[in-house]
Amino acid sequence: MKNAAEFETKEDDVFGRIASRYDLLCDLFSFGIHRIWKRRVSFLISKEPWVKLIDVASGTGDVVFRILNGNDLSPDHQVLASDISPKMLDIAKEKLLPFQDYVDFQILDAHSMPTIESYSVDVYSMSLGLKICNREKVMSEAFRVLKPGGRLVTLEASNIPVRWLHWLYLSYMSFCMPIIGWLATNGDSSAYKYLLHGVKGFPSAEELKNEMESIGFDEVYFERLSLGIVSIHIARKPA
Ligand SMILES: C[S@@+](CC[C@H](N)C(=O)[O-])C[C@H]1O[C@@H](n2cnc3c(N)ncnc32)[C@H](O)[C@@H]1O
Repeated sequence: MKNAAEFETKEDDVFGRIASRYDLLCDLFSFGIHRIWKRRVSFLISKEPWVKLIDVASGTGDVVFRILNGNDLSPDHQVLASDISPKMLDIAKEKLLPFQDYVDFQILDAHSMPTIESYSVDVYSMSLGLKICNREKVMSEAFRVLKPGGRLVTLEASNIPVRWLHWLYLSYMSFCMPIIGWLATNGDSSAYKYLLHGVKGFPSAEELKNEMESIGFDEVYFERLSLGIVSIHIARKPA
C-alpha cells in the first residue's frame, strides 16, 4: 500500500505553490467534472448520521463547503478541515467563512494525527488525497480516530473497467496534464507530475476495497463515477 505518486510534501511543497490556482486547475483538467464527483461524495457524507466529521487533505475546502452548504445543520455539528499545506488551508478558511460556527481548521499530516483522539469522529473523509499518501498509514490512522460504527469515505482516482478505454484515458492524461499544468503554473508542473504518477499507480476500486478490509474496515462498498475515472469508497469501522 505504497504512496502511488511517490510524493512527499515535506520535500516539495507543490500544493503550497499552486494553492491560489488550484480550483481553476481542477476545472481545466477535468472540464469541470470534478464538481460532479465532489457533489456526489458530499451528498453521501451528508446522508451519514454524523456529528463530528474530519476531512483530511481538505485542500481549498471544496468538499467541506458542499457538505455544509444547503444542509440542515444543528449547533452540535462539528467539522475539522485539515491539510498539510497552510496555503491550501488559508483558501479553505476564506471559502468556509459563512460556516465559521461549524468548522475548525488544523494543519495535519494524514499519516499521523496525534492531536486527534482515538475513537473520536463519526466520519473521516478524504478526497483526491489518497494517491499522494501512504495508504496503509493513512487508513490505519483513519481507523484509529473513528468511533466504532464510524465511516471512512474516500473519493479517489480509479480504473475504467473497459481496458482500452482506461488506456485511452491514461494516454489523454499523460499528454494533456503536463502541458496544461506547465502552462497554467508558468512552468512549474511538478504537482501534475505527482498527480499523474498517482493516477497511474493507484489500485483498482476492487483492490482498494480489499486494502480497506485488510486494515479492519467492514461493510466496504464503492461506486464508480464517470465510467470509473474515480470511485467513492465507504467503509465502516466495526461496531
Ligand atoms: C489533490 S489535492 C485535493 C484537495 C481537496 N480534497 C479536493 O478534493 O479538492 C491534495 C491535497 O492533499 C494535501 N496533502 C498532501 N499530502 C498530505 C498529507 N500527508 N497530509 C495531509 N494533506 C496532504 C495537499 O496539500 C493538497 O491540498
